[in-house]
Order: sequence, then structure tokens, then C-alpha cells
Amino acid sequence: MPSTFPAPAPDLHVAIIMDGNGRWAIERGLPRTAGHRAGVEVVRRVVEAAPDLGVSVLTLYAFSTANWRRPTGEVRELLGLLREYLSSQAPQCVARGVRLSVIGRRDRLPAPLAAAIGTAETATAAGGTLHLRLALDYSARDVILRAARNGAAAGTLTLPAFERLLAEAEGGPGPVPPVDLLIRPGGEQRLSDFLLWESAFAELVFTDTLWPDFGAADLAAAVREFRGRERRFGGLSGRAAS
Ligand code: IPE
Ligand code: IPE
Ligand code: MG
Repeated sequence: MPSTFPAPAPDLHVAIIMDGNGRWAIERGLPRTAGHRAGVEVVRRVVEAAPDLGVSVLTLYAFSTANWRRPTGEVRELLGLLREYLSSQAPQCVARGVRLSVIGRRDRLPAPLAAAIGTAETATAAGGTLHLRLALDYSARDVILRAARNGAAAGTLTLPAFERLLAEAEGGPGPVPPVDLLIRPGGEQRLSDFLLWESAFAELVFTDTLWPDFGAADLAAAVREFRGRERRFGGLSGRAAS
């Protein structure tokens, strides 16, 4: 094949810990919630850019189970912004072929947010360009624990069977491939209880850019960095093996 034909980009599962909203706002003398509002805008830009970069599944950490520890006012604002995002963006998602779904616990979310999730999931269910998953009241350890409890009754458990239980326990529409690339903007280098099982062999990219300043170019740079790495999954490098 002539080299002018680029190889088709493999379908990637990219996961992002959207961090740094609060610091972005404080740096500007604004309330933390202004950072969350700016952060929601970035979600729109990143979702738009993802398909052209070969991303077919995008999981965004929007609200962790640990985030309930924050002041009530901040939690209320944040969850309100997420509801607005779901209501306003569902038609855009339909137009772009984006399937939207939510993972995490729903039983503790405010009723209007839970309703907006259901409506957006139903409206976008046929989307085939990108599967956008928002992690909300999500804790990887809780998901693993619930799957383990459900699996305990099953006796001998295979890896595929356990992964099906994990998908059920996370509350989304079903299994997706493991995470290929996990990105954390905001300067911290930790996972904060996000997709611990699914990221077993993920490539990690940490950047100091705060989430409200993150954009399509930053996503493209992270994907480029990912493509430059050699994934060995415990084997040998291509050169050493031959
Ligand atoms: C990420 O930004 C948004 C959520 C965790 C919901 P932060 O609010 O954690 O921002 P920083 O880390 O305090 O700057
Ligand atoms: C992780 O960010 C959660 C989300 C981005 C939703 P946090 O800011 O809550 O994480 P820690 O506190 O730095 O671990
Ligand atoms: Mg943070």
C-alpha cells in the first residue's frame, strides 16, 4: 500500500480525570463554581474533537463518590451544571452520532439530574460515532466490591464473567473495551479511584494544564504521545522479540 494512505486509526478508549477547575477559578479571583462552568465548556470541545483522533469510547470523570465530601453549595452547583449539560447537549449528541451514557450510582443523585440522564441516554442510544460515558457518583472500588459480592454466589468465576459483573455493577449500558489512554490534567499524578480495573494496562498521561484550559490540541497531543509509546502487556518489545 502506498505510504500516502494513512493506516486506519485504531478505536481508542480514552479516559480523562477532569481536574483543576477550582484552582483555575481561584487564580482568576472567581468562585470555584466558575471553574466548573468553564470545565463543562471544555467537555463540549473535547467531545467534538475525539472522533477525528480515533477515539471511539471517551469516559470522563465528572463527579466522584469522594466528591460528596465537598461543601453542599459546590456539590449542588456542580450537579446542576451536569444536568444543564445533559439537557442542552443531548440534541447535539444525536446530531453528531454521540451515544451518551452514565456510569456510577444513580440512587443518590437529585431527581432532576437522574431524569435528565435517562432522557439523554434514551435520545442518544443509537449514536455510533462516539460512546461518551460520564462517570457520576463513581468509585472504582465500590464497583469492584459490588461485582465481587455479586460474583461470590457464582462459585468459580472466570475473568470474562467477572468483567461482565463489573459492567453491571458500574450501572452503565454494558461492557466497553479496557482503557487505552488515561489523561489527567490539573497537575496531580494520581487516579483518585477512577477505572482502577479497566486501566490495568492503560498508558498514563499527566499534564499541568488545568481542565478549563484544556482543549482539542491537548487531547491531540496526548493521543500523539500514546501512539509514540510501545505497549508490551508484559511481553517483550517488538525488536527484542524478533
Ligand atoms: C475537578 O476540579 C472537578 C471535580 C472534581 C468535580 P476540582 O474541583 O477538583 O479542581 P481543583 O483540583 O480543586 O483545582
Ligand atoms: C477527581 O478529582 C475527581 C474528578 C475529577 C471528578 P479530585 O480533585 O476530586 O481528586 P483528588 O481530591 O485530587 O484526589
Ligand atoms: Mg481536584
